[in-house]
Amino acid sequence: MRGVILAGGRGTRLGDTTRVTNKHLLPVYDQPMIYRPIETLRGMGCDDILIVTGGENIGGFAQLLGAGFTYRVQEQADGIAGALAKAEGYVDGLFPVILGDNYFSAGFTMPDRPAIYTTRTDRPQAFGIYEPGVGRIVEKPKDPVSDLAVTGLYVYDDRVFDVVHGLTPSARGELEITDVNNWYLSHGLMDVHEVPGVWSDMGTPDSLLRAALHAQAAAA
Ligand code: TTP
Repeated sequence: MRGVILAGGRGTRLGDTTRVTNKHLLPVYDQPMIYRPIETLRGMGCDDILIVTGGENIGGFAQLLGAGFTYRVQEQADGIAGALAKAEGYVDGLFPVILGDNYFSAGFTMPDRPAIYTTRTDRPQAFGIYEPGVGRIVEKPKDPVSDLAVTGLYVYDDRVFDVVHGLTPSARGELEITDVNNWYLSHGLMDVHEVPGVWSDMGTPDSLLRAALHAQAAAA
């Protein structure tokens, strides 16, 4: 099976640490960040992995990972769904997509339908939140009605590329993965599962440290 890691973006929240390198090449305890999503995809059964990243960083990934991966360039950091568009033609049927800065402590079984994965948060205002009653995701809700944060692991099928091509940029000028997921949810084509174990993103100094401490405890 083929899977996709989205490892573009700007990494601005990590300040100067991402000025000369890509966020996903930074260390998380004892390994480069990108090793984590690779492990998650391999655990789901992926033996072929596409890494989508900004053109200036391809060399660093190739030097680190070598052969055995496919690389595609996202010229502009125009959003997570913009990065996903670059996977068109690489994948076929049902396939997993993971954000390169997402840390999952436990493994996943590949589902038989498109899916998203949620985890409970005590800061719902900071995440995309799944509202089970309505069956939709609201980005950073001011008045959250649930505490189910949508994490950066998704399973899609071929039709995702038609959905992405139909998107218009959001107010912040990005093609939003939440719009893709809300399309699937509103058509009854997506399941919502809970993440097993611990999840953290690694995109801020605090979340990167939290993930590193989890990785340290897991390695002990
Ligand atoms: P974000 O953390 O939303 O964006 P970012 O990585 O640019 O960081 P910052 O907000 O601090 O500037 O991205 C989440 C993941 O999605 C990250 O692992 C990289 C990926 N991504 C892309 O591949 N392409 C993109 O255009 C964006 C915005 C993100």
